[in-house]
Amino acid sequence: MSKDSVTIIDNLSGRQIELPLKRGTHGPAAIDIGRFYRELGYFTYDPGFLSTASCQSKLTFIDGDKGILLYGGYPIEQLAEKSSFLEVAYLMLYGKLPAPEQLNNFKKIITHHSMLNESLKSFFRGFYHDAHPMAIMVGVVGSLSAFYHDSTDINNPQHREIAAHRMIAKMTSIAAASYKHSIGEPQVYPDNSLSYTGNLLNMMFSVPCEEYHVDPVAEKALDLIFILHIDHEQNASTSTVRLAGSSGANPFACIASGIAALWGPAHGGANEAVLNMLKEIGDIKNIPSYIARAKDKQDPFRLMGFGHRVYKNYDPRARIIRKMCHEVLEKLGADNDPLFELALRLEEIALNDDYFIERKLYPNVDFYSGLIYKALGIPSNMFTVMFAIARTVGWVAQWMEMIAEKDQRIGRPRQLYVGPAQRDYVPIDQR
Ligand code: CMC
Repeated sequence: MSKDSVTIIDNLSGRQIELPLKRGTHGPAAIDIGRFYRELGYFTYDPGFLSTASCQSKLTFIDGDKGILLYGGYPIEQLAEKSSFLEVAYLMLYGKLPAPEQLNNFKKIITHHSMLNESLKSFFRGFYHDAHPMAIMVGVVGSLSAFYHDSTDINNPQHREIAAHRMIAKMTSIAAASYKHSIGEPQVYPDNSLSYTGNLLNMMFSVPCEEYHVDPVAEKALDLIFILHIDHEQNASTSTVRLAGSSGANPFACIASGIAALWGPAHGGANEAVLNMLKEIGDIKNIPSYIARAKDKQDPFRLMGFGHRVYKNYDPRARIIRKMCHEVLEKLGADNDPLFELALRLEEIALNDDYFIERKLYPNVDFYSGLIYKALGIPSNMFTVMFAIARTVGWVAQWMEMIAEKDQRIGRPRQLYVGPAQRDYVPIDQR
């Protein structure tokens, strides 16, 4: 019996099998259950994938108990302090930090792919003026597959690389155009002299009739938030992109599926939900009744921006962003915004409440990102779009990693069928 294996004994039949353990660089080993069904005749059952590793990956490592997050082996704290969004994007796509020339070249490539095909404009026009920008994002990003379908051979590594560059580059233009559509202003073309986040701010907030200057505080704050959101291993949206991509689907369509999965309030939609919740609470005096609602099992209300599936200690991104949140609000003079005061009071109360302490429910990254976006003048229905821009890097990196895998197969989970037992069709006149 190998030391690096686990023996499973089937008490029903008396059979036993030895299953190999797969060990990664960090984190718990995984039992390779590929032979499980063939040899024992059972499926494994794990709704929500609480114990199931769906793939192996070199991109991101999380230790939820210790509050550790590594991108390509580098701690998030170091990248947040010393790096930039496009440098980390390079790390995710190519597995190493770029040399100066490589980074310059990468920036140039991303900058020069940011224009949208003019025909795409009519897609935006087709949306009703009050369409949620995430709905527009799902549609327009998916429609990119119509522009780059025949020219994208996913089995060709160069084609995959170009698709990744296009996706990262065009995401800001699509996001800004979605916003401009929702407020009835003309789309602004990208400006190649600006940084990635400076360009986004310019496309969102400038108008043809006035000069606009990118605020360096906002530009830097967005760059940092984007670094924090780049990837988060096999979360719901990333798993969706991988599953869609496993069938060989067009990469732009796969990213659209990721955007759809991100939109939910339990995932990326939480940042918008935090702001809506703060507005609903309205006043510090109302916090206790909302805390009581969050604890009440009969009430579906949850404190948005608290808790995380993986971080059961503290979200390391939240620690970084909390500090930045205070700095940004102070610099922009928004620190006496009553909503911010309310948020901090809520944070303090929840952190000292037994219900939240026992369940290890700490404020997550989205609790603070929404407050920063608000201070930057970004409307709340664009918060999840901001998350999607940054996470696009993780999605394309994970998609590229999966497609490049030898023996890559279509993802096909099994199920436990609990419907009616087999029965015979009853003709309609006999029912
Ligand atoms: N408010 C009140 N109670 C909560 C909350 C909350 N925000 N989150 C979890 N709980 C309770 C839950 O009721 C359960 O209690 P009990 O054990 O008594 O039944 C316990 O804590 C464990 O919760 P769970 O639902 O089993 O945990 P999960 O790992 O399935 O869910 C979560 C994680 C993030 C979906 C959940 O904490 C949540 O809904 N949080 C609010 C939404 C949110 O902020 N989401 C953003 C996550 S971070 C961004 C991202 O990565 O996408």
